[in-house]
Amino acid sequence: MVAKIRLENITKRYSNKEDAILENINLEIKRGEFFVLVGPSGSGKTTLLRMIAGLEDISMGSIYIDDQRINDLKVQDRNLSMVFQNYALYPHMTVKDNILFGLESRKTDKEHQDKRLREVSQMLGIEKVLKRKPKQLSGGQQQRVALARAAVSRMPVCLMDEPLSNLDMQLRTHMRREIKKLQQDLKLTMIYVTHDQTEAMTMGDRICVINEGKIQQVDRPINIYNHPSNQFTAEFIGIPKMNMVEVSELDLNVKQATYVGIRPEHVIEGHDYEVQVDSVEQLGMDTMFSFMLADKVWYAKWPGQHEIKIGDVIGISFKDDSLHFFDQDGLTVSI
Ligand SMILES: Nc1ncnc2c1ncn2[C@@H]1O[C@H](COP(=O)(O)OP(=O)(O)OP(=O)(O)O)[C@@H](O)[C@H]1O
Ligand SMILES: [Mg+2]
Repeated sequence: MVAKIRLENITKRYSNKEDAILENINLEIKRGEFFVLVGPSGSGKTTLLRMIAGLEDISMGSIYIDDQRINDLKVQDRNLSMVFQNYALYPHMTVKDNILFGLESRKTDKEHQDKRLREVSQMLGIEKVLKRKPKQLSGGQQQRVALARAAVSRMPVCLMDEPLSNLDMQLRTHMRREIKKLQQDLKLTMIYVTHDQTEAMTMGDRICVINEGKIQQVDRPINIYNHPSNQFTAEFIGIPKMNMVEVSELDLNVKQATYVGIRPEHVIEGHDYEVQVDSVEQLGMDTMFSFMLADKVWYAKWPGQHEIKIGDVIGISFKDDSLHFFDQDGLTVSI
């Protein structure tokens, strides 16, 4: 029952005069895959998801689910469920009726509805609030109801657009795991949109990094972290972000590249550069500090607790084989 999805040369323009919002998007999402679309605000993530859902016209290209071209299928015929940022629960309906709304409108029989309701509400821990109205729930509970509504439908494909962005940090961490588990238990093919790279890294089987309507890289999270294909991805994935300077600033004797990037955890104690500490954050597990080098603010992140104070002068080096090189167009070059 799980489905695969294929996007072929998808382009989106809102008007003929303007530039394309999305350009030439080619993607293949595997059956049962947790696929994350990540990118900065305005990069086109929601637009792409809405085109897959059938809520937005496709200017050019084709979308296939299981080899069926679905461009002209109505939303309700695409066999997918959706969860959006603002939950979109019906305020006048009880939690139970909200969850069962889709099944009810498809006239699924009552016994079947009850059985599914029991299963999903147990799975998401909302059995005790089924009789309440949405406004009598916490944000986390509302979000679970929205998830339950998607889960109860048993659609093979699920689309989620920033479903956790209204929740506090702790609840987000918790819900990340719940969504991941739900996806695995129900063997859903998931397309999950977020601008939060931690969500992307922790949830995705694969990530698609998108910027200004163009795909930057598609790969497993750890491969993207270790082998970013360009400067944008290198700086977008990783907290704090990768330090980036012109090669010439560091006397590295590398002719093939214009820019060099170094992750904060790869700035280690050593003798290559002397720097003065500008700020320090003791995070408990790590110690983070910043300094100026080559006219740029740099960040270093060292595991454990270090006695570092503002104004200290520290000797640093870069960890072996940890440098990322980019050409003048920002594409990765291997050296
Ligand atoms: N109806 C519309 N008409 C014209 N332009 C639009 C319309 N909807 C969105 N856009 C533009 O399309 C671009 C992509 O928007 P989109 O909502 O897909 O971004 P996003 O990646 O989801 O951003 P965010 O992370 O802020 O949700 C933006 O520049 C936006 O202004
Ligand atoms: Mg969006």
